[in-house]
Amino acid sequence: MIPAEDLQCLKAIAVRGGCHGPVFVSTQSIGEMLAISQQTASRRLKGLETAGFITRTMAADGQHVTVTKSGEEVLRKEYQEYCRIFSEGGKTYLLNGTVVSGIGEGKYYMSLGPYKEQFTAALGFEPYPGTLNIRLAPSSMTVRKKIDALDWIRIKGFSTDGRTFGDARCIPCRIGTIKCGIVVPGRTHYPDDLVEVIAPIALRRKLGVEDNDSVNVEVGL
Ligand code: CDP
Repeated sequence: MIPAEDLQCLKAIAVRGGCHGPVFVSTQSIGEMLAISQQTASRRLKGLETAGFITRTMAADGQHVTVTKSGEEVLRKEYQEYCRIFSEGGKTYLLNGTVVSGIGEGKYYMSLGPYKEQFTAALGFEPYPGTLNIRLAPSSMTVRKKIDALDWIRIKGFSTDGRTFGDARCIPCRIGTIKCGIVVPGRTHYPDDLVEVIAPIALRRKLGVEDNDSVNVEVGL
């Protein structure tokens, strides 16, 4: 992660053409653009160079700065996020809630072959055996209803060893940069303030979350 202030500085260089070749800047001009002191501007440039986001050669009254490939990557990612914010079709829905424990049923269901195969085909990853249960904040309930109206992928139920397992549906989502999926069992009485998330990895461990910790889930990319 690049600090927000460094990102602003990188953007200021790119706006001047730094992605296409060396641009001449002085700490004074950068400082004026970003409303920061010359000393701070100098520190930012140094930080960007150390992180490998720019290269620079010093001149008598300033420096020639070029944005590197990885610097360009950072800006591109930022750009894509703005595209998501402003593009019509790219509407995303953000759910917030807290982690809760269930009764360990998820692990059992997610280890059943027919479910596992269908989730893998639907979401593009083999799910870690279990579901992360998230109790939605009241402010997310309206969003949750909107998500219900989106296109969900149907997971077919099956019978095995004289037991019947019901239908479910799932939809891709993300927690941070981790690709996940929301799973809703077909049961009629399912609490609508509960969301079960599956992922290719152990989310509690990866995110460092425990019961009652807050998590954000993003749907619709
Ligand atoms: O019923 P409960 O949600 O408590 O358990 P489970 O669905 O059987 O999942 C086993 C454990 O793994 C739970 O603590 C889940 O929160 C956790 N889990 C996880 O960390 N990452 C996942 N991708 C899925 C489950």
